[in-house]
This record gives sequence, C-alpha cells and structure tokens, in this order.
Amino acid sequence: MTPSLHDVTRGRLLYGGDHNPEQWPEEVWHEDVALMREAGVNLVTVGVFSWARIEPRPGAREFDWLDRVLDLLHGAGIGVCLATPTASPPPWMGARHPETLPRDETGATVWYGSRNHFCASSPVYREYALRIAADLADRYGDHPALRLWHVNNEYGTSCWCDETARHFRRWLRARYGDLEALNGAWGTAFWSQRYDSWEEIVPPRRTQYLANPTQTLDFRRFTSDALLECFVAERDALAERTPHVPVTTNFMPLFVGQDGWTWAEHQDVVSVDLYPDPADPDGPDGAALGALVQDLTRSQARGPWLLMEQAAGAVNWRGVNRPKPEGLMRLWSLQAVARGADGICFFQWRQSRQGSEKFHSAMLPHAGRRSRLFGRVRGLGAELGALSEVTGASVPAGTAVLHDWNAWWAGLQQGRPSDRLTHTGPLRAWHRALWERNLTCDLARPEADLSGYALVAAPHLYLLTDEALDNLAAYVHGGGTLVCGFFTGVADADDRIREGGMDARLREVLGIDLVHEWWPMAEGETQHLTLHPAAGISGAAGPATADLWREDVETAGAEAVASYRGGELDGRPAVTRHTFGAGTAWYLTTLPDPDTLRALLGRAAHEAGVRPPLPDLPTGVEAVRRGGLLFLLNHRREPVAVPLRVPATDLLTGRRHERGVPLDRHGVAVLREEPPAREGLREGR
Ligand code: GLA
Repeated sequence: MTPSLHDVTRGRLLYGGDHNPEQWPEEVWHEDVALMREAGVNLVTVGVFSWARIEPRPGAREFDWLDRVLDLLHGAGIGVCLATPTASPPPWMGARHPETLPRDETGATVWYGSRNHFCASSPVYREYALRIAADLADRYGDHPALRLWHVNNEYGTSCWCDETARHFRRWLRARYGDLEALNGAWGTAFWSQRYDSWEEIVPPRRTQYLANPTQTLDFRRFTSDALLECFVAERDALAERTPHVPVTTNFMPLFVGQDGWTWAEHQDVVSVDLYPDPADPDGPDGAALGALVQDLTRSQARGPWLLMEQAAGAVNWRGVNRPKPEGLMRLWSLQAVARGADGICFFQWRQSRQGSEKFHSAMLPHAGRRSRLFGRVRGLGAELGALSEVTGASVPAGTAVLHDWNAWWAGLQQGRPSDRLTHTGPLRAWHRALWERNLTCDLARPEADLSGYALVAAPHLYLLTDEALDNLAAYVHGGGTLVCGFFTGVADADDRIREGGMDARLREVLGIDLVHEWWPMAEGETQHLTLHPAAGISGAAGPATADLWREDVETAGAEAVASYRGGELDGRPAVTRHTFGAGTAWYLTTLPDPDTLRALLGRAAHEAGVRPPLPDLPTGVEAVRRGGLLFLLNHRREPVAVPLRVPATDLLTGRRHERGVPLDRHGVAVLREEPPAREGLREGR
C-alpha cells in the first residue's frame, strides 16, 4: 500500500518546523532538542539546505553530523521529515558545470549565492540530485526517526537556456506529434511566425513586441512538467529504497508555476507553505487567503494535508514586515486544523543569526526561551496535543469552487482586454464571499466529478477544455446549481477564442445567445447595478456597484436578476439565471462589490440547499465542521458570543457551554456538540 500522511501522524497532530542545525555549533543542538520537547514539537524538517554541508566537493559525503542530528532527535522522541537538499546546489556545481545554472529570458545567467539556482532540464543537475537523494535514502532509510521525505523546496524556478530549449522541443513533439499541429495550435499564421523545423523553436525569450500567447502557455505547461520530472525522479529513487516512507514536496500557496492538480497526484502527502500578511489588525484578508489556500490544499490532497511552513511572527520579504498580533498565530494555525491540516509546522525552528533570513521570525526567536513568542509556541503545542482526535478526520463541503492552472496561465498573456483582470482576483473575491457566509468549499478542477456538490462556483476560467464544458453542462443538466463568473469559457485548450465570445455549450447552459463585447473598466470607474426582485436578495448594504469588468450579453432564455444602470450598458443584463435540464445556471457578467457578491452567492447557495454549519453566526466568526467537531474562530479583535443550537464541550478548555460560547479577541473553540435531546426521551416515554 502507498504510504500516506497517516503513517506520519500515527494518530497525533504534527507540530514542528524547519530545523537547520548546520547553521549552529553542536552544543546548540542539545538546547534545541530540549526546547522542542518543551514546546511539544514532534516533527522537524532537516536538511532542506544542507547540500554543501553533505557534499562539500563533488562526490564527497559528510553524513556524520547528520547521523548525530537524527540520533539526537530520535532520542528525544522527535520525528524527522528528511529533505533532499536539491533546491540549493553547492557553488562548486555552478562553478564546474555552468550549464546547471538557469538563464533568464534575455540569456543572462542566474548565479549561485542565493538558492534555487538550477536548471530543471540540466542532465548534470539531475544526476547529482538523484545521487544525493539515493544516498540519503540508503543511509537513513532504516533510521527510526525518519517519518517523511521532503523533496527539494518550493519547486518553482524557470529557465530559458539552450538545454531547456532542447527539452522544450521534446516536450512539444510529444504533445503535438508533427510540426503542422504545433503551427495550428500556436496560430503561427499570425505575424509570420510559422516554424519550418523543430530546431527553430525556442522558449519564449525576450521579444521585440507581444509574444505568441500559445507558445507562452505551452512553456508554462512545460516548465511545470519539467520540474515535476525532477520531483518524480527523486521521489522514485526514495520510494524504491524506502517504500514505507511517504514523500512530499512543499507547495507555495496558490502558486502560478506548478499545475497543482497534476502535481498533487504525484504526492503521498500534500503539503503547503502559507504566509498571509498579518498587517491588517483584524486579519480578514489573511484569514480569507488562508481559508482559500487551505481549502485548495485539502482538495489537492483529497483529505488531510500538512501545513509545512508558516511564520510564527514576521516574515522578511514584504516591504514592511509586521509581526503577528497576540492570538493570531494560534488562530491561523487552528484555522488550518479546522480546514483539514493534520500538522502545523513553521519556517523555521530557531531564528538564524546570519544570512538572508535573520530577520524572519522563527518558533524560537533571537529573544530566546523567555520571549513572548516562544510562550505562544509552547501554548499552541499543548493545545494541538489536546486535539489528537481530529487527526485524519475529513471536512465536509457542499460547494466546489473551480480553479485551473491552464486557465490562469492563458489569462496571463500580453495584449488582453484588461491587465487589471487577474485569475486570482475573482477567485479570491468569490471564495471570500462564500467563506464569509461560512459555506465550506472544496476547490476542484473543471473536469472533476462534481456530482457530490450542491453548488459549483466558477469565478473566472478564461480557458475551458471541451471535457470541462461537457462536464459543466452535464452537472447542471443533472440538477446541479452552477454560478459562473465573467470571461469564462472564452478560449479552448490552445487559447483559440470560441465562436460567439463564449463556448456554445456554456451559452446554452447559461441561457445566453451571444457575448457582444467585453467592457473592462479603468481604475477609478464605477458602474451601478440594479438588482431586480427576481434576484431574491436582501441585505446587501449600500448600492450595488462594480469596478472591474462588464459584458454586453444577449440572453436567450435566461432571466436578468441584475442589470447595468447608467453608462453604455444601461439596462443590459448584468447577472442572469437560467433553468437548464434539472438544474440552474447563474451568470455574473461582472464582479459586483463584495456585499452584493456575497448576497448573490448566498442566494444561489440557499436555493441549492447549501447551509452554514450554524445559523446566525456573528460577522467575523468562522465556523467549520471537521469530523465530529465544530470549530469556531473569531477573526475580530472584539470578543463575541456565538449562539449554539445544542450544548457543547470545548476540547481546548474542557468547559461545557449550554447556549452560547464566548470567544475572546482572536479566540477559538473546538466543540463537541451533544446530540439533540429527543422529545420522547425528555418526556420519559
Ligand atoms: C519559504 C521557504 C523557506 C523560507 C520561507 C521564508 O517558504 O521554503 O525556506 O525561505 O519561505 O518565508
């Protein structure tokens, strides 16, 4: 059987972080281990950036120090997530083999002296990487501390060198077979771009004017695949030697560079790094982004996942780096647990004193054991220890939000209707609207089986494959509710615009005849919207407005539930609803203001029968069910009281609450609800 996260947790939530003992004299390692125990740490990631220490010159192996580190950790009962150090090759590799160094779009070399300076297409890099991965597995495969393999770190580099060009051509041959198919897909009749031989094809290097969009799209697909090849090769080398140990690599949150759906299929454990900005004191942006990334990661994992990295306090890579206010680190950590994390880990265990990340917070800061921050770290460790029963439990979701990397990549092209429109803008706005309504969402690729969801939201998917379009049509026809956002289903898999401004199948589902024109809006423009009684919406605070995008659509069967008011599109439909087969399809031709968007999505969800875990939740309180437990999280700085339907006991405090739970600023309760008393029983029958 393939190993899984269950083999790592062994029934306990994981807690720990990146441990970089190579940065410290050995006596500090002993203090580290003692303090890890004090903090309740049970898993640390070792070796992420240890390549130069293990292999100081080509072929050398210095494992003694690592032997001692693993033995020490094991002696303290701390498990190890052992990394292959392949994200940061030693300087000797770049010096001896300059072809392992990446080149940018202009051909300039990206040098060593930082990290991630490798070309994924370089056979020399790959060979060295595989050898060190295999040697680590041979040496530590039977070490009792070893719980999980961590391959590389945040894969995400790109390269435009000649080796990459050859690799890209091989990839294109496999995709298209012959050159005419490639010329057709890339639309090379445009601007005299026709290729007469494979050797003429290069990665999309710097050009004089707008680059070929499909070439760029394919290069993004290729880069994701090339990095995946590196991961899979290392994974296989490890799995061959240690079939019982699961393998992961840590994703960046909502990261553009990897097709996260495809990558996730190759992981035994799906893990992610998450660094929302704590600058906003009420934290809603951070918490909303956190919820989105957590929902995405859980969906990629199809179950529990691992938060591989977060910051205990400030990061050091924003313009201004603010620490986390009191309570926020705990709140965001427990939010991740609520949304399916089986482990909470940090970058990093002990704050560095040298190097580029010495101003980045850690579990054990420069201020040391007596610091406020370490106190919080210790507190969280104890609380996670009390939540073991949640380990492995699933998070039920009635809604799927569709997300797709191909749509994202294609939408990034130059020369598009509006560079104010991003793929993640609508995605984040829609997910946030659903999150604020406490409607737990999975994320799904547009081709996925959607039959288990009462509501499917497609915020903005510029490109949709034929398979996805058929899937969406079948979903609605079979009784599902689809809410579709603007500029969706516009292009096919080759980024060829579909006739009618939107694929005909999708237009039929939505009850739309034509999309006449797109009317994107400039910064500072405001478009008013009129909500019709048919929308069934009340409660949106101010006037309904939009400021990003408009479309001039011709309906064919759909009813308008909102219209544009004023401007060139005055009176034209802005939001429509249509019955298709046994289901319902909404179309939002614009991105309404957050209140209106929340009201519209809330309405669609209500009609579809999707409900939050508790009614009447105060604003700013997040409620999520995981397994048999109900998590309540107060994202506000003001205390609130949350009314309960049935008495419940908080696992964090052991207290029983009859009618309501008080939550402090950034407070959390993890409740086991009592079964509702049955009338008959109460009357003694
Ligand atoms: C990423 C990396 C870590 C560290 C942190 C800092 O997540 O994986 O090595 O650089 O960022 O935030």
